[in-house]
Formats: sequence, structure tokens, C-alpha cells
Amino acid sequence: MKVLVACEFSGVVRDAFLAQGHDATSCDLLPTEKPGPHHVGDVREVLEDGWDLLVAHPPCTHLAVSGARWFKDKLAEQAEALEFVRALLAAPIPRIALENPVSIISSRIRKPDQVIQPWQFGHGETKATCLWLKGLPELWATCLVPGREARVHRMPPGPDRWRERSRTFQGVGHAMAAQWGALA
Ligand SMILES: C[S@@+](CC[C@H](N)C(=O)[O-])C[C@H]1O[C@@H](n2cnc3c(N)ncnc32)[C@H](O)[C@@H]1O
Repeated sequence: MKVLVACEFSGVVRDAFLAQGHDATSCDLLPTEKPGPHHVGDVREVLEDGWDLLVAHPPCTHLAVSGARWFKDKLAEQAEALEFVRALLAAPIPRIALENPVSIISSRIRKPDQVIQPWQFGHGETKATCLWLKGLPELWATCLVPGREARVHRMPPGPDRWRERSRTFQGVGHAMAAQWGALA
């Protein structure tokens, strides 16, 4: 399967698909943290390159409901962020998964198909993550963890905080590759 992982600097989802034998490439405005197939640039430049599956993690800065108190001051940024999401969802790719926290995508574009939690995939943490799916089944939980905390909210301030907060959980990446990568 030819897989494009959009808006990924970490290589987590890309490497999970590579490990399952797929032809996976990540793309981000930033370089990849881990060596591997990666396109640095705007993902819209490569959406028409014949992919079978797109997994996209667009920025949530102007979309997440957790930032609602600033919404009135950033209408232009919000409109641009929604346009980006629409472009990803409309990509000419048969299978698409777009991931974001609880966000205004739900009210302005459409409701998510699924809401997952890291604790369903082997991580003892809570972080509601919405998935908008096209041509893909919902993910099934792979490893339920009983101890749960909201670690991402308690991270100390610092230049790398956003990176740590936005990096995809390994268990979620593995589930995507194992379950969606197995589709014919
Ligand atoms: C919320 S982070 C997602 C991080 C991802 N979960 C990971 O594990 O690497 C959003 C990413 O989108 C990237 N980005 C923003 N606009 C983009 C664009 N037009 N094309 C490609 N990447 C973009 C940012 O640089 C940022 O790394």
C-alpha cells in the first residue's frame, strides 16, 4: 500500500506502516525527527501523487475547542485552518483518516466518525482524539490500560512542549498500520 502521512514530523505513523511492509512517506513543513522517507514542504503539493491511503494530522492550534476563548480574535486563521482540513478530506485518495482533538471541524465541516483515547491503545493517558474517516473502518482498541491520567496537560512550559503534546502515540500508530494496512 502506498501511504502518505501528512503533517507528521515524528515518523511514528510512517514507521509503523513501513514496519508492516508498506511504502510509506511522511510530509511536514519541518524535517523528520527520525531518518526515513519524508517530504519537507506543503502536503498539498503531493496529494495527487497516487496514494492508496492518507493519514493526516493537521494543526489544531486554531481549531481545538480547548482554545475557544481566543476564537473571536483569530477568525482569519480559523478559516484558513478549516480550508486546509477540507483540502485534505477532499484529496483524490481512496482511504483517508484525519485526526484532530475535539475541534470546530465537528460543527463547521462534519462530526467525527470515531473518538479514540490513548488508553485504548496501550498508553495510560487520556486525550480525546477524533478521527474523520473515508473508506476506512473505525479502529478497534488493541490494549485497554486501567491507569489513566491527562499527562499532556501537565507538561511543563518550554520550547518543545508543543512537540511532545502533538506527537502521535505509538500504540495508535501501530493500530492504524496493523488494521488499515491489512485492508485489501
Ligand atoms: C499537530 S502537529 C502533528 C504532529 C504529528 N502527530 C506527529 O506525530 O509528528 C501538526 C503538524 O503539521 C505541520 N504542518 C502544518 N501545515 C502544513 C502543511 N501545509 N503541509 C505539511 N505539514 C504541515 C506542522 O509543521 C506540524 O508539525
